[in-house]
Amino acid sequence: MDNGVELLEFQQRGDERGKMVIIEGLKDVPFEIKRIFYIYGSDEDVIRGCHANRNSEFVLVNVAGKSKVKVLDGKGNEAVFSLNRPHTGIYLPKMVWKEMFAFSKDSVLLCIASEAYDPLEYIRDYEDFIKIINSEK
Ligand code: TYD
Repeated sequence: MDNGVELLEFQQRGDERGKMVIIEGLKDVPFEIKRIFYIYGSDEDVIRGCHANRNSEFVLVNVAGKSKVKVLDGKGNEAVFSLNRPHTGIYLPKMVWKEMFAFSKDSVLLCIASEAYDPLEYIRDYEDFIKIINSEK
């Protein structure tokens, strides 16, 4: 997908006591971190997300378990990424439609965001998203 979506490999550190991944804003993710939240306890048949953000960029990491994320750019490109490693993330730029699904029972999906929460910057209707993308051409 030629729209900035990319997999990020974080350095896996650790010693005989166990492993550690460190994620710093502007270093390991391409933005200053303003918010984190995490999603867990979703059934396997649940689809979450289903929105685009006008301003927020995100990095998603399954720190435990696994899930999938489908990303659509509104211009006919879509891709599905499997998140199943605590040291792998996916970078999602602003203005892509995302859907998270196929959550394993033990899934903990960490979401790192570039902006504080603002419900007004969420586009939750797919048709609206398509219209906005196409009007921006
Ligand atoms: P929602 O965006 O629907 O979650 P998901 O994208 O995983 O499907 O968020 C669920 C609820 O939580 C919704 O009422 C908005 C609220 N919320 C906040 O108040 N702050 C936040 O940072 C987020 C992500 C959600």
